Amino acid sequence: MSCRQNTTTGCEEGELWKLADFTVSTALNAYQVFPGSPPLFDRHFNGLTTENDLKFENIHPGPGFYDFTGADRLIRAAYERNIRIHGHPLVWHQQLPEWVGQSHDLREVMIDHIQTLVNRYRGQVHAWDVVNEALDERGGLRKTVWLENIGEDYLYLAYKTAQDADPGALLFYNDFNLASNPRKLDAAISICRNLRNRGIRISGIGMQMHISIAGPYRMELQEAVDKIWRAGFMVHFSELDVSVNPWVTKTTITEKDLREQQDTYYDVVRIYRSIPPQYQYGITLWGLTDADSWLPAYFNRVDAGLLFNTSGQPKPAYCGFQNALK
Ligand code: XIL
Repeated sequence: MSCRQNTTTGCEEGELWKLADFTVSTALNAYQVFPGSPPLFDRHFNGLTTENDLKFENIHPGPGFYDFTGADRLIRAAYERNIRIHGHPLVWHQQLPEWVGQSHDLREVMIDHIQTLVNRYRGQVHAWDVVNEALDERGGLRKTVWLENIGEDYLYLAYKTAQDADPGALLFYNDFNLASNPRKLDAAISICRNLRNRGIRISGIGMQMHISIAGPYRMELQEAVDKIWRAGFMVHFSELDVSVNPWVTKTTITEKDLREQQDTYYDVVRIYRSIPPQYQYGITLWGLTDADSWLPAYFNRVDAGLLFNTSGQPKPAYCGFQNALK
C-alpha cells in the first residue's frame, strides 16, 4: 500500500480502545462469548459487529420462524458490558435461506424481517447496516432477489422501515471496494444522498476494507474517505482485514509480508484519523485473531489478515495499528 520505509516497527502491547479516540470494534459471534468474552476482546475492543448471528439464514431460517438463540446471547453479553453493538446486516443477497426466493411477497418478507430484528434489539443495537452490498462494480444496482422482486424502491423501504422501528438507531450503508472503485463509491454516496433527501436519517457509509498489502493505494483511500465526510456522512471502516496473499501466489507467509502488513495498517489508521472527529464512527476489524478470520477458509488460501496471530499474540500489524494512534 505504501512505498515509504517502515518507521513503526515494534511496540509494547497496550489497550487499543483506550489509546484510540474512536471506537475500536471487531466482528464477533455468539459462540465466542460463551461463557465469557475472550480476554483479548475485553482488553482491546469497545465495540462489536455481529459477524454471522444476525444473518438471515441464521436468525430467520424459515417463513415466519425466527431463531434468536445466538443473537440474543451475543447482544445481551455485549450490552451488559457497555460494548457498542453494530447490527449487521438487515438486507443482503448472501447467506439467505432458500425459502426467501420462493416467497410470493418479498416486500412483506423484508419488512417483517427488519421490523422484527430492529424492534427486538431496540436500545441495544446502536447502529445497523441496513443494506449491505447493493451495488455492482459498475456502480449500478446489483441484481439481487430484493431488487428483482421489489424494485429499486427496496432501498428506501428498507431504511424507512428500520428508521420507524428504532428512531434512535444510526443507519448505515455498507459495501466493499469503495476505495479502489470511484464509480462504486460515487454510487454509494448518491444512494445515501437520495435517502437523506427523502427524509431518512442515514448516518454514514461502511467501507468494508477487505484490503491487502497490494492495495488500494494510500491516495485512493484518502480521496475516498474525504469524499464521504465532505458529503456529510460518517465513515466506518467496517470489516477491516489486510490480506497478505490476495492473488493466492503464496503457500507460506514471510516476515516481509508481515512488515508490509504492518505498514498498511499504520497507513489505514492514519488516514482514518485524518477524518474530522464528528465523521468518525470507528474502525472494525473483521475478526479477533487469524484463527477466527474468514479469509483462509472463504478464499481457500494461506492468509493472516488480522492484528493477532492464531495464538492470540500481537503481530507486527498490531504495532502498525497501535503506533498510528500516537
Ligand atoms: C463473512 C463471514 O465472516 C464468514 O464467516 C461467512 O462465512 C461469510 O461472510 N462482507 C460482509 C460480511 O458483509 O458479512 C462477510 O462476512 C464478509 C464479506
